[in-house]
Amino acid sequence: PRRLNISDIQRMTERGVPISVLTAYNYPSAVHADLAQMDMVLVGDSVAMVELGHETTQSVAMEEMLHHTKAVMRGTRRCLVIADMPFGSYQLNPEEAMRNAYRFIKETGVGGVKMEGGVAIKESVRRVVQGGIAVVGHTGLLPASVSAIGQYRSFGKNAKEAITITEDALALQDAGAFAIVLECIPERVAQFVTDKLDIPTIGIGAGQGTSGQVLVYHDVLGMLQHPHHAKVTPKFVKRYAGCAEFIQQGLETYKKEVKSRIFPSKEYCPYEIPDKEWEMLV
Ligand code: KIV
Ligand code: NA
Repeated sequence: PRRLNISDIQRMTERGVPISVLTAYNYPSAVHADLAQMDMVLVGDSVAMVELGHETTQSVAMEEMLHHTKAVMRGTRRCLVIADMPFGSYQLNPEEAMRNAYRFIKETGVGGVKMEGGVAIKESVRRVVQGGIAVVGHTGLLPASVSAIGQYRSFGKNAKEAITITEDALALQDAGAFAIVLECIPERVAQFVTDKLDIPTIGIGAGQGTSGQVLVYHDVLGMLQHPHHAKVTPKFVKRYAGCAEFIQQGLETYKKEVKSRIFPSKEYCPYEIPDKEWEMLV
């Protein structure tokens, strides 16, 4: 089967078919997402938090994003893969954005890139699209701006913020973005923005009115639910599986069986040396 492209995403939007998006960060999660027939896979800069253990997404580097994106490309055949441009790789100026966006395409073969912001980054978005690269925008909560925001919180609960979100979304569309992620905003505001736009919106914590939904792989699968893992899962996350418990159980059983010499039992000791060879040795 051929890989989906942005025309396929546009067609789904025209037909009112919701767009399914999941993040992935490495070969296994990419294989899982592709086999589950996600329309799009996002190599999120959330990799910094859920895979690398950082406090925020701000610390992830270009080289790290490229490294993870390459693995995701090797694990997918069907879905459209989009990579997050890391914090600091596109905010400086449009030329810097273009140079870094080209690296994603040439070094990983990814289908497009995502950038956080609105009016403030519209010239970078325009430059990258004019340079021939598909761009997804991202507004509402901007996790990479956490040091300026102070804390992760919802946006658009007052008219002033809702207007800013709308203007940012329109600026991203005008600059050539083919889709926009709306993060952590009231459903009515997300619906309002979606109605104003021609391009699809992908919601996360943005209610039912968007053109599609995205969630983080680890959140969907309950990957990081260990009691010592302090990170709070956002209210909007629905957990579809309890992988952390499942993994923990499997690993504890393995360890117990090693300690008690239950593993490896006879069936897992497959290699033999013939008697004739053995006699030559001893
Ligand atoms: O980094 C990420 O995972 C994201 C999605 C949650 C939209 O930006
Ligand atoms: Na992100």
